[in-house]
Amino acid sequence: MKACIFDLDGVLVDTAKYHFIAWRRLANELGVDFDEHDNEQLKGLSRDASLDVILKKGNLSANGPQRQEWMDKKNAWYLELVHQMREDETLPNAKELLHQLKKAGIRIGLGSASKNAPLILERVGIAHLFDAVIDGTRTSKSKPDPEVFLLGASELGLKPEECIVFEDALSGIQAAKSGGFFAIGIGSPEVLKQADAVFPDLSELTVERLISLSKR
Ligand code: BG6
Ligand code: MG
Repeated sequence: MKACIFDLDGVLVDTAKYHFIAWRRLANELGVDFDEHDNEQLKGLSRDASLDVILKKGNLSANGPQRQEWMDKKNAWYLELVHQMREDETLPNAKELLHQLKKAGIRIGLGSASKNAPLILERVGIAHLFDAVIDGTRTSKSKPDPEVFLLGASELGLKPEECIVFEDALSGIQAAKSGGFFAIGIGSPEVLKQADAVFPDLSELTVERLISLSKR
């Protein structure tokens, strides 16, 4: 293991709940029911791809400007919540693990679909720890396409098999596996079946544990 590439929302920070609140608000405004189960399908998807899922559920269609207006609305609601975030809103052990990795000389990348990723990294005070940041402004294909992680590995100067990917979304685990990465799922083993290992969060993970897992 030479690098760890982290998804952001739901792995390092608890922003998945804010995406859910904002998408549900938009869906309900469009007359579409939206619950936690629907939200699971959206995790990891780009803003565009997420809107597609909601429109499909409601049997709705929209032209370009209308889609943009809805995405902007969702993002404005999401950002209202992000601006209330405190610096300690990283998930358990996230900051500690990043510091340990840094100390051990293991490179750190971000592989997120979010266009807001750099803002959030700054907000919680971890931006300086990353050697490569791939966010939603730098990719053209949404997870489950491996583009975001492949770009991350290449920016770190490494091959996929030298990197561990951390993901909370089914689409993200699929992206990591199809790109040839060792994939650690963060969340429920029922949802993240295709991961190489699944943990409820980062709290049990240390550098030693990661090295031994990736050797299996
Ligand atoms: C992903 C989230 O990280 O980013 C998705 O899991 C979100 O829920 C996507 O829709 C895009 O985020 P943003 O911030 O660009 O709207
Ligand atoms: Mg995520």
